[in-house]
Amino acid sequence: MNAGIVILILKIAVIAVTVLWLGSLIALALGKTRLHGRINIVFFALTLVALFGLEVIARVIGPPGLFDDYLGLHDARLAMRIHLGFSVPSAVLLFAMLFTGLKHKRKVHIAMGLAFSVLWIGTFITGVFFLPHELPW
Ligand code: HEM
Repeated sequence: MNAGIVILILKIAVIAVTVLWLGSLIALALGKTRLHGRINIVFFALTLVALFGLEVIARVIGPPGLFDDYLGLHDARLAMRIHLGFSVPSAVLLFAMLFTGLKHKRKVHIAMGLAFSVLWIGTFITGVFFLPHELPW
């Protein structure tokens, strides 16, 4: 598996789950709190599947250094480090978001939601626009 193609697939996955997340915020703005929660449970599950899939490809199936070599070749190691600076904390916060949402810890959930929004937007921009991908054709 080519690292550039894996990055392309992950970009498509991030765009797709971001559409879901924006949908959950629209639901919230319309007062449909339960729908917000339902959509975000799907958002949570899909994001974890993508993350887990990436880890399996990078560390189990793929050859050692798959991503590192590819990023070095494209001069994108710094871009990846910046991207991870947003994506790793946002993945950690995701668990806390689901927990506080389900437990109706409203104040904490909203406060963390602001931090999560900043981190997710950073993840999106640095991932989609700054990491090098390859097209299969
Ligand atoms: C900008 C981000 C977010 C904001 C401002 C936000 C805000 C809210 C608010 C105001 C509620 C109602 C809380 C209550 O009155 O009990 C809520 C519920 C909930 N949120 Fe979020 N949220 C955000 C992101 C997320 C994320 C990322 C998740 C999951 C990964 C999530 C999962 C939930 C769940 C499960 C509920 C409970 C829904 C229900 O009552 O059935 N939220 N959220």
